[in-house]
Amino acid sequence: MSDAISAAWQELELLPKPTLKALFADPARLEAWSARLDLPGGTVRFDWSKTHLDAAHAAAFLKLADAAGFAARRGAMFAGEHINTTEDRAVEHTALRGVGRETSVEEAQALHLRMQSLVEAIHEGALGETRHLIHIGIGGSALGPALAIDALARDEAKMQVHVVSNIDGCALEAAFKACDPATTLIAVASKTFTTTETMTNAMSALDWLRQNGVEDAYGRVVALTAYPDKAVEWGVDETRVLPFSESVGGRYSLWSSIGFPIALALGWDDFAEFLDGAAAMDRHFLETNGFANLPLRAACADLYYTRLRGAQTRACFAYDERLRLFPSYLQQLEMESNGKSVKLDGSPVDGPTAPITWGGVGTDAQHAVFQLLHQGTNLVPVDFIAAIIPGDSLDPAHHRNLLANCFAQGAALMAGKAAKDPARAYPGDRPSAAILVEDLNPATLGALIAFHEHRTFCAGVLMQINSFDQFGVELGKDIARAIVGGAAVFDASTEALLAEAGIK
Ligand code: F6P
Repeated sequence: MSDAISAAWQELELLPKPTLKALFADPARLEAWSARLDLPGGTVRFDWSKTHLDAAHAAAFLKLADAAGFAARRGAMFAGEHINTTEDRAVEHTALRGVGRETSVEEAQALHLRMQSLVEAIHEGALGETRHLIHIGIGGSALGPALAIDALARDEAKMQVHVVSNIDGCALEAAFKACDPATTLIAVASKTFTTTETMTNAMSALDWLRQNGVEDAYGRVVALTAYPDKAVEWGVDETRVLPFSESVGGRYSLWSSIGFPIALALGWDDFAEFLDGAAAMDRHFLETNGFANLPLRAACADLYYTRLRGAQTRACFAYDERLRLFPSYLQQLEMESNGKSVKLDGSPVDGPTAPITWGGVGTDAQHAVFQLLHQGTNLVPVDFIAAIIPGDSLDPAHHRNLLANCFAQGAALMAGKAAKDPARAYPGDRPSAAILVEDLNPATLGALIAFHEHRTFCAGVLMQINSFDQFGVELGKDIARAIVGGAAVFDASTEALLAEAGIK
């Protein structure tokens, strides 16, 4: 650890730990720790006032950011430098939103034009009547599209999209049951175009088309990949291969052609708004210095709880049914990016890295897991996400109650409640943050996702780790391949399980 970094951590460790109640004695607290951004799709309020950070923490965290070279690392990412050092790659998902190195932005725009042409041609019937799309992909090639479509294409989807990720055939069979093969397209979404789950599901989808009378099954397939040659070699016609750059990481790829099902379900104009909303957040992130930089502020709070308060998890609850997939999306983003044990220089990390991200949807979670948040022994910093404008057209009582419950939870976690009976007492002083969007639409969802991408990046910079590789997923894949290959011998427990399941 450099001297400046360890000095900043020492300063942070020595700072007093006032309670939330004490922090709110300052009448300027709310003003200082909440902010409103005017974005293309409406305003978004970010309220970090119910966290334990104060001005002294902000100053010390800014010293840490300086010592970790935050501004330079941020600049390097947007300049297209190879900040993903272990894979010697640039990190250019923001170029897909029009913010980044000029050549990369131009390349991204050209690829988007190609994608737009295909989307519009399909809408106009160029591939025959098409009512369903089975989108086959996994991890970053599925979670982002599934989230955006579930959030935004509820009422007037231009196409019914079924996202299938699991190699468990039950997942694909469920999609088959919902689709008519004669009017179904298959999207094979894989950055590498080698992922076992995706390629297995893709082959079965082709078989399903053929078995159900589709003569030119490959003619119904679109490929979304950073390796177009592999898709062509696999059998997809070049005109239906939508490439994206290798410098776009899997969990950051929904802005690329991996977002094809989003554009197909919503229409191109909405997809363009989705990109614009993310671009507005990119500009905020790139141009705002100090603690006014909201992703940086959120990352500092995250680090504060993991490194200085011992929090092992962090939770995100969307008080909005449309965002029910947001926690799953966030899990990959945060845990695959920052669940690391070594720093950029290969040395061991200085403390805990990514907390376990978990969460759910409000109010459901209140009736299931909130007991632990209020009275359990784990400290769990919580994010609440909600929208002011309802997504439904029922009696406004629904939405009023939804929001009342959301805000009540943050208030209850902070205030706690004394009681004579210890079983009925709430300790309080438990942290939460709130993100309140005026309206949930393509632009604000884009901004919300980009905010979390940058928050994750900031945490990685402050911990001096590479947020953009994911070698931790490889060993299990290698062993699974070896098992399927049949040659290797494993530990006694694994061998017994394989034998009992009849796999070996
Ligand atoms: O195994 C992890 C992972 O590589 C993720 O990072 C990625 O999003 C997912 O698999 C899918 O990879 P691909 O898009 O190459 O099929």
